[in-house]
Amino acid sequence: MNETLTASTSPQSTSLRKRILTGDRPTGQLHLGHYVGSLRNRVALQHEYETYILIADVQALTDNFERPEILRRNIRQVVLDYLAVGLDPQKCAFVVQSLIPEIAELTIFYLNLVTLARVERNPTVKTEIQQKFGNEVPLGFVCYPVSQAADITAFGAHLVPVGDDQKPMIEQCREIVGRFNRLYGETLVMPEGMYGEISRLPGTDGQAKMGKSLGNAISLADDEATVTQKVMSMFTDPNRLTGKEPGTVEGNPVFTYHDAFNPNRERVEELKELYRRGGENEKGKPLLGDVQVKRELANVLNEMLEPIRTRRAEFARDETYVWDVIRDGTQRGKERAAEVMDDVRSAMKIDYGSVE
Ligand code: TRP
Repeated sequence: MNETLTASTSPQSTSLRKRILTGDRPTGQLHLGHYVGSLRNRVALQHEYETYILIADVQALTDNFERPEILRRNIRQVVLDYLAVGLDPQKCAFVVQSLIPEIAELTIFYLNLVTLARVERNPTVKTEIQQKFGNEVPLGFVCYPVSQAADITAFGAHLVPVGDDQKPMIEQCREIVGRFNRLYGETLVMPEGMYGEISRLPGTDGQAKMGKSLGNAISLADDEATVTQKVMSMFTDPNRLTGKEPGTVEGNPVFTYHDAFNPNRERVEELKELYRRGGENEKGKPLLGDVQVKRELANVLNEMLEPIRTRRAEFARDETYVWDVIRDGTQRGKERAAEVMDDVRSAMKIDYGSVE
């Protein structure tokens, strides 16, 4: 019933469109890993789905609680990245997490549905704990996947486009939804994860994951010289000392990036073949040196990033525009979350708030 009402009265929905919820922690500028893992999918899907994009400042606090002042600046940066890659604020509601108290409420309810052993088993959380906390793990951190389940369900999302490092979060969310619906009756939408074609972009240093805090990221906002410099110092096949040896393409991040970003597939195949073969020309120079493969990659990336940078700079010129967009998106998110919250409360039979 509620659905029909929303769909016919809300200006952005013309039908009973399915919903997307996804988001990012505002801890810095977004990078190429975000782009292939999730941003590309969001840009493509925003026309079809009612889209909510959460700027997860509360989640960012779980490992930045000692420096909350970084959030305000980074919220703006993340939204500039969204606008720059082509997310349209008419189609996507950009929602600031801490301004939606319903998410915190849902988190509290969901915490009852998850065991301590289960949160401790989450592989992404496990790795992050080792990297960040050792033995002094704040409860807020171990529980952030529960809060992320609240993020997703607060908007009744059907689809969650994310990088594949987020698979454990989606799984945990689905468990919570299943448990909730079995206990209290079919209420919550069961969400599906959607992952980028390139499952995970390695860092420029060849580490499995690109991350701002790992110092191995190429940001969407990096200027041309920075991108080129980062590409030229990328990790490649360490056994290829002169460029004449047959090289390894598999697991070589320079080729992973070519696969992810180079629109000229033929050239990529040619580069791979030459690289694998190795050898020298009549002057004793390598047939295909690493420098050449990198130079071509830097060109491809700069070509792709140029329009993104230009749009970013245009949006950044207006101090208030970004915050206007956030205010508007958050308002739309709030309306949606309030409806879900009503459903949850009545399913749990705790909807006595309005009883006189
Ligand atoms: N955990 C995600 C990340 O680190 C960010 C995030 C927060 C998110 N809430 C979400 C992603 C809800 C998808 C859905 O990138």
